[in-house]
Amino acid sequence: MITVTMGAIEEAVDRAIGSLDIPRLREEYWAQNEFLFVPQFLPRQVVEAHLAPLVQSVKPDLNRNFIPGHKKGGSVSVYTLHAKAPGFLEFYRSPVFLSFLTQVTRAPLQRCPDQDPHACALYYYTEPGDHIGYHYDTSYYKGARYTILMGMVDRAPSCKLVCDLFKDDPARETRHLELNTAPGDLVLFNGDKLWHAVTPLGEGEERVALTMEYVTNPEMGPFNRIYSNLKDAVAYFGLRAVFGGNRKV
Ligand SMILES: [Fe+2]
Repeated sequence: MITVTMGAIEEAVDRAIGSLDIPRLREEYWAQNEFLFVPQFLPRQVVEAHLAPLVQSVKPDLNRNFIPGHKKGGSVSVYTLHAKAPGFLEFYRSPVFLSFLTQVTRAPLQRCPDQDPHACALYYYTEPGDHIGYHYDTSYYKGARYTILMGMVDRAPSCKLVCDLFKDDPARETRHLELNTAPGDLVLFNGDKLWHAVTPLGEGEERVALTMEYVTNPEMGPFNRIYSNLKDAVAYFGLRAVFGGNRKV
């Protein structure tokens, strides 16, 4: 396991948030229908020093998945990150980061339950054609679900996060965005509001993004839990990760 100095990531996150104009970001988030892009939230050098080595260290553990017509790529779940790259959990559990998110979204955010493999995970686009089709990050929780994406590796001009803002609002014209997420760039959105996709990876390219998920109510009905687990097993992390025994976080 690659280790990073305990506290180094949390300290970098605290420092980054200390330099932000949070009222301005909150205004931008709400003006964009609960969507925000913060280029270089963490400096690229911080990501390359502390997080990129962890991304490479868990690459052998990624679970590849393929859903014809919708999705192709690799994922590493929160369980693997907990066991082999806990530096990401240090980021996910940062109280200052949670406070920042709460101030921007004006929502009483909480971390996801330990059994949610998406709570903090890595998405790898490593083979030509890796992509995900348009979707919402639908909440199966009793509360709303918020997604954070952060670029970790972005040697992939073809592989962009594409977003249609206001797609869920028939009164507004849709606004189309195409973003490359450089190491340290952060995207934050309400999962039920942002229609988004990732375009196919080109030959010789590589893109890796960290995803973190927070919710306003971590309870989930039993049928939604079954559906959510099946979706995670098939589309992301594999049956063993989602239903296996070693899921302590
Ligand atoms: Fe998504």
